Formats: sequence, C-alpha cells, structure tokens
Amino acid sequence: MTQLRAFVTRRIPENGLDLLRKEVEVEVWPEPLQPPYGTLIEKARGIDALLCLLTDKIDANMMDEIGPQLKVISQMAVGFDNIDIAAATARGVPVGNTPGVLTDTTADFTWALLMAASRRVAEGDRFTRAGKWRTWGPIDFLGPDITGATLGIIGFGRIGQAVARRAQGFGMRILYHDLRQHSEAGQKYGAQYVDLKTLLREADFVSVHTALSQETYHLMGEAQFKMMKRSAVLINTARGPIVDPKALYRALSSGTIGCAALDVTEPEPIQADDPLLTLENAIITPHIASASFQTRGRMAEMAAANLIAGLKQERLPNCLNPEVYRDRPA
Ligand code: DGY
Repeated sequence: MTQLRAFVTRRIPENGLDLLRKEVEVEVWPEPLQPPYGTLIEKARGIDALLCLLTDKIDANMMDEIGPQLKVISQMAVGFDNIDIAAATARGVPVGNTPGVLTDTTADFTWALLMAASRRVAEGDRFTRAGKWRTWGPIDFLGPDITGATLGIIGFGRIGQAVARRAQGFGMRILYHDLRQHSEAGQKYGAQYVDLKTLLREADFVSVHTALSQETYHLMGEAQFKMMKRSAVLINTARGPIVDPKALYRALSSGTIGCAALDVTEPEPIQADDPLLTLENAIITPHIASASFQTRGRMAEMAAANLIAGLKQERLPNCLNPEVYRDRPA
C-alpha cells in the first residue's frame, strides 16, 4: 500500500513513525509548533490518513478540503474535543484515539500537582532561587495536610479512578461526582458519590477529570469557587475550558480558595500576560500530564495502529465512532 499517503501533524515518538513507514508514505510536519489551519489544509489535501494531535482543529471543512479519499483520522490523545466526530461519521471516516495507556501517568502527574500546590513546592523553589532563604521559619510556607484530608474527584472515569486509587494510600476520604452518577468503581476505592455542591463544600482538594463538552464548559466558575473551602486546592489535568480562568483568578487573588494547579488552560497555551501567572498560589504547567517516555511512546504506537487499521479498511483498535461500521460488512 505504498501509494497511500499519511500526514502526521508533528514529530511524534519514533516508534510510532517506524510503524507507519512500514505501511504507508508518511509526511511529518517538522516544525515545533502545529501547522496553522490553512497550512494543514494545504499539506493534507489528497491524503489517505491523518495522524493529528489535540492542538489541531479537525472540523467538517478540514475533512472536505482533505477530500473523500480520506480513510481514517487518528488522534494521538485520549481527549478529542478538537475533532468534529459527527462530521467524520457523516463522511464515513473512522476516528481513533489512545485511551487507557496514559491513565496512570496522568494520575501520577495529578498527584505531583496536588502535592506541589498544597505544599508550595514551586513557590519555595522560586523563593530559594531569589536568595530569600535566610532561616528556618516556624510559620513560613504553611500548607494543608494531605493525609487524612477529603479529596473530591469530578469525573470518575479511568483517570479519576486512578487518582482515587492513589488517594487510598494517603488515607483520604474520597468523594466523587460524575454525570453517570454511581460507579461500581466507587466501592472499590472507598469513594462516595455526591452531588457537585456537596463535593465542593466538603473537599479539601478538588481534582477535575471530566471530558470537555457543552455540559462541562466553565463547570467551575464563580458560584462553584464560592462553595469551596477557603483553604481548598483545585487541580485541573483534564481540559482548560472546564474552569473559567477569570473567575479562578478572582477566587485565588481574593482568598476565596487556597490555591490551584493547572496543567491545562483556557486559552491554551496561556498568554504570557495572563493574570493567573502573577499569582504565587497558582502552579501552571504546559499540558504535560501524559509526558513520560513510556506513555508517549505507547500513545504513538496506538495512534499508528489505528491509522494503519483505517488504511486497511479494518476496524480501528480504538474507535470513537464505531457507527461508521454499521453499514459495512464485519
Ligand atoms: C489527552 O490525551 O487527551 C491528554 O490531554 C494529552 O495526553
């Protein structure tokens, strides 16, 4: 099938590219930043397969510009809010993603943020580097205890549950809220389902793990911050727009909540002059929760496997719109 062509919108780990190159002619966008929308259209026009990232907007127009020969869209991420899945389905194009492989890595990083924010790790590091460390201070850099505290998890899917599993080791009381309500996994991790208001009122740490959708856009806004404890810590490793950034700035700067750690922002990347970046009680990292060598390698392999299956007109191992196969022979 060497006559088939695939476009990859950024350099991905080599193991994924090696798999692709065995099956298809591959062009990789070589720049460190993603191709602008118009450039992506030009590069992708006429290709058979697209391997894209969460930074690429793949809408109906993009699919039409690429052309009717497009056989598969393979996203190297579990989240897919950048892709118009309904438009792909309407065009009979299967869309793949990479669920599961990044669960533990993302949960680990959520904990890194939770601990760093509450125990003021980044702030302490800045303080030391600025030459301000002059003595051991009995009332300096105080933060809340983690062991025995209450953790509120919003979105109790794979990653939310993996965060809960780790919380058991800290002897935490675990609350969760999920659109699907009660989950059997709740019992497994000793986690209790509660409504969102109860979670916000009772949690010392609130960690966001829900997908971005119309329902969850700005789910965390002014009203929600006001319900939280003044000492509460907010962590978001899901998608930036789930948290209203202006309301968060007001909540952090007025002491409505204690501190926040965000791996995702709105917009993304965050602008250099965003007021959130002026706050000592905010940690902001550049969407790196899944960035371990092993996990990014596995994500690249999974994305390659989805793409190759799509080219061969086989079912994608991880397909977001299996309804495209309804009218096809099994
Ligand atoms: C995803 O996969 O959706 C993460 O946000 C990036 O790893």
